[in-house]
Order: sequence, then structure tokens, then C-alpha cells
Amino acid sequence: MSSLLLFLIICSITPHIEGWGRVGHSLVAHLAESLLDERALKWVKTRLTNQMSEIAFWADTIHFDTDNLFGFNAWRWSKPLHYINTPPWDCNYIYERDCINDRCIHGALKNYSTRLKTFDNNVHHQQDFFFLVHFVGDIHQPLHAGFNNDAGGNGVSVRFMNSTATTNLHSLWDTGMLTHRMRTEFAGNINTYYAYLHSKMLNEASKINDDNFTQWASESLDIVCKQIYFNEMNVTMNSSIRYNLGEWYYQRSWPVVEKRLIQAGARLGALLNRILIKHTESTKPPATTTQRGCYNAAFSIKFSMLNFLFIFLALSYSIDTKTVV
Ligand SMILES: *[C@@H]1O[C@H](CO)[C@@H](O)[C@H](O)[C@H]1NC(C)=O
Ligand SMILES: *[C@@H]1O[C@H](CO)[C@@H](O)[C@H](O)[C@H]1NC(C)=O
Ligand SMILES: *[C@@H]1O[C@H](CO)[C@@H](O)[C@H](O)[C@H]1NC(C)=O
Ligand SMILES: *[C@@H]1O[C@H](CO)[C@@H](O)[C@H](O)[C@H]1NC(C)=O
Ligand SMILES: *[C@@H]1O[C@H](CO)[C@@H](O)[C@H](O)[C@H]1NC(C)=O
Repeated sequence: MSSLLLFLIICSITPHIEGWGRVGHSLVAHLAESLLDERALKWVKTRLTNQMSEIAFWADTIHFDTDNLFGFNAWRWSKPLHYINTPPWDCNYIYERDCINDRCIHGALKNYSTRLKTFDNNVHHQQDFFFLVHFVGDIHQPLHAGFNNDAGGNGVSVRFMNSTATTNLHSLWDTGMLTHRMRTEFAGNINTYYAYLHSKMLNEASKINDDNFTQWASESLDIVCKQIYFNEMNVTMNSSIRYNLGEWYYQRSWPVVEKRLIQAGARLGALLNRILIKHTESTKPPATTTQRGCYNAAFSIKFSMLNFLFIFLALSYSIDTKTVV
């Protein structure tokens, strides 16, 4: 009986790894895309995706048994790559302790940015790119650098704005407050909201353009430790009861949500411009477009097949002539 209870508790705090949700990830990717220089944008569009926002959520959907009916189990290995967990209230993130064997979001950022830098026209960078876009978003959702005892806030039950539905702290930071802000201040219009975030990003871009992954993670953990767990009575929330969070909590939190979305977009854009440089250099004249590479490869395959055929014919001819003679 007690083990059943324990089982249920553990199941209920299994991390939902949606990061910013579809809306937040789309916004981050769209902001980043607007910062790509011409050649990086061209490379991305020719090779990887027509629009970055349409692939920004891929790294989550592969885990859903509703989106990926036959394959979701095959991606289990990538689940730990969505976050960093520290011991409860340990507010100093330590790579060696919290990212063993690189199996955390910081390790994944290093991995996929390195992989993407590898210049080889035959390497298909699609998954590397999809993962990187997603993880830069995730690491800026503060609770993706959270505590291991409640799976980054997934274990803390909350009701938001007197809603009858119960959610949890992690999900509230993924999507709850973001959708509330968009609905109440931007009439639920993503284009208006994007335009607002975009102009804010351009005003602040010079200050947030860095590539220090440790810093990104530390910033998130710092927000977790200083702000996220405290309600308006300054009670430290935990997994034991359900908390009501309303206007006070929201007003204090939305500026942080927005700041992190903007930082994620700006940093992702700058990062991609930096790491795609080799690929994009290779596509400048006289080598012209990337299609020429494909064309050349296809041509040389055809050519060698022709060679082979020729040798084969020559051989069979000589055999034929021998037998005739
Ligand atoms: C690095 O990327 C490869 C390919 O997706 C994957 O197999 C490996 O687990 C990744 N490692 C980390 C630490 O992200
Ligand atoms: C939630 O309910 C409380 C008490 O009934 C009320 O004071 C508060 O204004 C409500 N909050 C919202 C956002 O409706
Ligand atoms: C990266 O950020 C961390 C944490 O803020 C800092 O300790 C470290 O010195 C920074 N590294 C570089 C190369 O700037
Ligand atoms: C809230 O509580 C934390 C620790 O529980 C404390 O450090 C902080 O100063 C308190 N803030 C206010 C405004 O009372
Ligand atoms: C959890 O929080 C409740 C009230 O918010 C408090 O009464 C309880 O002592 C806390 N439990 C732990 C283990 O800190």
C-alpha cells in the first residue's frame, strides 16, 4: 500500500519536459531567426527548415505518445538533456555534480553546438539544429535549472488566478503566465506580442549577446532561488500542499518570463550566426549554392556508375571475343 502511494507520488512528479511550451519555444525561435545574418538564414532555409519556429518544439513532441505514437520510447535517452537539477536549495550550479557525463542541458548545448560546427556537406545537421534551438529556449526557462526533489517545480501544486484547475509551478512558468499575459494584454494575438518582444529585444540586444552556457544556467537557478518559490505571504512553497497564486505573483513574474524569452532569442540568434559561419562561408561564390554540392555528388555517382558499366562492357566484350576466338 505504501509502496503504491510512493509509486503514485513519484509518477505525479515525473518531469513534464515541455520547456516553454509551443508558444514560448516558437517565440524564441522566431526572435532568433530575425537576427540571423543573410548567409546563415539562407543556409538554414535551404538545409534545415523553412521557419525556425516550426521546429522549435520538435525536441518535446518526439517524447509524446500522442505525437510520436510508434517512436516515443526511442527518444528516452534525450529526456535528461532538457534540464539541470541541483540538490534542493543548492543555489550554486556545479557542472561536475549536476551534469554527470554531460547528460544535462548544459552538456547538450555544448554537444549540439559543436556538432553543428562540424563542416561536412554530407552530414545532415537537422537533428543537431532542432535540438540546439530547443535547448537554448529551455535553459532560459528558470525552472529548467531547478531542484531535483520536486523535478524543477513539477511537484509543487498550484492554482493560478482562482482557476478551478490545478497546475504545477513548472507548468505555470512554461506556459501558464505566458498565455495569461498574451490573452490579457495582447488580445491573444501572437503577432502583436511577437512585435512587442522583438522591439524590446532590439533595444537590449547589445547587453545580452554572450555565449557563456554556465552563465545562462546560473542565471536561471538564481531566479529559482530568489523568486520563484516565494508566494505573496513570503511562504516558501513545497510539494506538501496546493498554493493559490494570483495577481501579486503574476505581476512579479511576467517581467522575468519576458526577459528570459528575449534573452533566449537574442542569444540563440547570435550563437547560430557564430557557429554556422563555416557552413555559410562555403556557400559563397564561386562555389555558389549548396545545391551545386549535391549536384556534383550526384554527378560523380552517375559518372562512376558509367565507368563501371564501361569496364563491365569492355570485360564482357573481351571475354566474348576470347570465346569466339
Ligand atoms: C550528443 O548528440 C548525439 C546525437 O544526437 C547524442 O547521441 C548524444 O547522446 C548527445 N550527447 C549529449 C551529452 O548531448
Ligand atoms: C481570487 O479570489 C480572491 C478571493 O475570493 C479575490 O480577492 C481575488 O481578486 C481573485 N483573483 C482573481 C485574479 O480573480
Ligand atoms: C561564465 O559564467 C560563469 C558564471 O557566471 C563565470 O564564473 C565564468 O567566469 C564565465 N566564463 C567566461 C569565459 O566568461
Ligand atoms: C522571504 O523569505 C526569505 C527566506 O525564506 C528571505 O530571505 C527574504 O528576505 C524574505 N523576503 C521578504 C520580503 O520578507
Ligand atoms: C511545506 O510548506 C508548508 C506550508 O507552506 C509548511 O507548513 C511545511 O512545513 C513545509 N514542509 C517542509 C518539509 O518544508
